Amino acid sequence: MKILFVDQTAKLGGGELALLEIVKHYRTESKVILFEDGPLVSELQQRDVPVGIIKSAQSISCIRRSSRIPLTSVAAMVKMARDLAVEAKDFDYIFANSQKAGLLSVLASHLSKKPVIWYLHDILTSEHFGRAQLFAAKYTARRSNQILVNSEATRDSLIALTSREKDVHLVYNAFDTATYGRSSKAENANTRRQLGFDKRPLVGLFGRLAPWKGQDVFLRALTQMPAVQGMIVGSPLFGEDTYAESLRRDVHDFGLSERVKFLDFQKDIPSLMGACDVVAHTSIAPEPFGRVVVEGMLAGKPVVASQTGGPNEIIEHGVTGVLYAPGDVQALSHSVMSVIDNPEAAATMGRCGRESALRRFSLEGMYTRLDEVIQVPLQTVGHPILSTSP
Ligand code: UDP
Ligand code: GLC
Repeated sequence: MKILFVDQTAKLGGGELALLEIVKHYRTESKVILFEDGPLVSELQQRDVPVGIIKSAQSISCIRRSSRIPLTSVAAMVKMARDLAVEAKDFDYIFANSQKAGLLSVLASHLSKKPVIWYLHDILTSEHFGRAQLFAAKYTARRSNQILVNSEATRDSLIALTSREKDVHLVYNAFDTATYGRSSKAENANTRRQLGFDKRPLVGLFGRLAPWKGQDVFLRALTQMPAVQGMIVGSPLFGEDTYAESLRRDVHDFGLSERVKFLDFQKDIPSLMGACDVVAHTSIAPEPFGRVVVEGMLAGKPVVASQTGGPNEIIEHGVTGVLYAPGDVQALSHSVMSVIDNPEAAATMGRCGRESALRRFSLEGMYTRLDEVIQVPLQTVGHPILSTSP
């Protein structure tokens, strides 16, 4: 199967880390097109995946989740779609891995007559997107031959917005499970010391800094857990620098400087998770999937996650992790303390979480699923673009 993968960003967000694992499976005859240069380019090159850049015009790259789509961007989109159609001519499918990539891929498929598979990583609601983005998503959904969704929650939002149910396939993220939960107790203790933490319990929060990821909720919860240390790992990836600065101010204002540390974007997440007693997840808006939740489980840690979208599907409350009401500072601190105060139950939960994650989120499982979906004969797709093609 020759697949042209397309993604709008070259930053290492969750969608792009998911793409890295997918591309590995189709590496020999595939190529990735990105709309900008960035760290994803070298990650792909290290894996011997051909990568090209169709540079996005400023009028397109400045469009954020909630902003309007300027009229001036239309001509730029048409040009990019043309370039993408040229790239697509040697491939069987275009696989779009983000919202803008989806829109440009369906535009390109009008010209190239290549079918589009759109992997939707987002929950399509007004909590996450402005009207223009939702309109574009509707158009993309109507024109995509197949749509992959990263959770039931994402699928529900797609159906609510577009009524599209046909050829929509659930494909959970998958992980190189062998890289998690490998470090010994001594290594974990050493990592912790090197990071400057002492023996008090340590809770880790992993992910890009963004208001909807709720890092501020975590800091407020820490004010109610005076004997607990906190580690916030990640950077603002998509322009949320003001929020990142406000978090550092909160740490100072809340008197947390002595027991909270920030680490900018890190590569070795398994080791850092290994050093934690608990892994927290604090999103205040529905989390489409939540890779960090699975990674915490794979690391064998009790995960305390906000009861939204993906985490609801990943965690069995009280067995493989703990769920609490999103944004509820009291509930978060109580949940974390209940884990910390019951080390035996916490260890059992960590073990159960790891077993569940190993079973449900392996690369092999995802590759089998993708092969089934991607092999669906094109004639059965019944898409307007295909039925008019020769
Ligand atoms: N991550 C990382 N380094 C960091 C912080 C986060 O590699 O410093 C990874 C994290 O391990 C996870 C991904 O970024 O795989 C975030 O994905 P998630 O689905 O949790 O959230 P997203 O940012 O995609 O909404
Ligand atoms: C998006 C979502 C996140 C999901 C990731 C991979 O970035 O925000 O919840 O885990 O994609 O599917």
